[in-house]
Amino acid sequence: MEKMVKTFPQHKCNWLKGRFAFYKYQEFWNIQEFLEGGILAQQSFKARPSDVFLCSAPKTGTTWLKALAFAILTRHQYDESTSPLLKTMPNECIPLLEKDLEQVEDNHKNSCFPLVGTHLPYSSLPESILTSNCKIVYIYRNIKDVIVSHYHFLREAAKLPMEDAPFEEAFDEFCEGKSWCGPYWDHILGYWKARLERPEIILFLKYEDMRKDPTSNVKRLAEFIGYPFTIEEEKAGVIESIIKMCSFENLSNLEVNKYGKHRAKESNIAIENRHFFRKAKDGDWENYFTNEMIENVDKLIDQKLSATDLVL
Ligand code: A3P
Repeated sequence: MEKMVKTFPQHKCNWLKGRFAFYKYQEFWNIQEFLEGGILAQQSFKARPSDVFLCSAPKTGTTWLKALAFAILTRHQYDESTSPLLKTMPNECIPLLEKDLEQVEDNHKNSCFPLVGTHLPYSSLPESILTSNCKIVYIYRNIKDVIVSHYHFLREAAKLPMEDAPFEEAFDEFCEGKSWCGPYWDHILGYWKARLERPEIILFLKYEDMRKDPTSNVKRLAEFIGYPFTIEEEKAGVIESIIKMCSFENLSNLEVNKYGKHRAKESNIAIENRHFFRKAKDGDWENYFTNEMIENVDKLIDQKLSATDLVL
């Protein structure tokens, strides 16, 4: 598999001094380890109809969505003082299809745990997910904040200080579509078009909307994944407790997320958990973008997404 991936078109990120490369497969750029796992999943994964997929492009709020979905699903087993989320980072509570296939398959054999994450674009999802009519939750986020978040995450992964990783170059590459699981707009469009055809199995959540109104979005999420809150739970403040436990303020201050490491055994992609919890600030892009960048990215989004009802 490694040999095969190395034959795909390669892009070495100049702004990361070539320390990271993306490979192009089925029109999207991906990191080697995640692409190998994605192809393996395409070849062998058998979805269960009860599986629920949490799908996203990287840096759009995946970790938050995973924490919320996990807390919703396990609320009868644990409360805010016993939840595994207090000791395990959310991305390890829910396996990623293209990296943790064995764990997903173990869950199939040994439990009825339905949640699976993936960054794969819709067009690259294993066939069985689509033929089994599995539910899909898709989270997306304002492109400008994604560009900044993506810049910092990959820069930290490459262990480069900001002065050695020019933001302008990172910006240009992102806008050329060369980002992790990019082009970002095509990632969104794939799921958006699928939702038009199958609205009953695809839920779209927008990061900024969840920030503005977490309660109704958490309710929508719980209903959609088949674990709706009862009136008694609502009255008892269960939704608010989940929102509080999964908040950036709470999760980012936990020992595990401050000092732990994600995928620690895989030296190429190991990264400190804290890099998944950077700032979580809407509009942080204003600290990075020049007027020209704003104009360019607005034009790009207008060109690529004007036929949709999506506002990025
Ligand atoms: P910033 O880099 O803008 O801070 P992903 O989980 O898809 O990798 O996305 C990471 C982004 O989500 C980061 O954005 C991170 O700070 C933010 N994030 C992480 N946990 C969050 C939470 N509990 N609530 C809101 N945002 C969160």
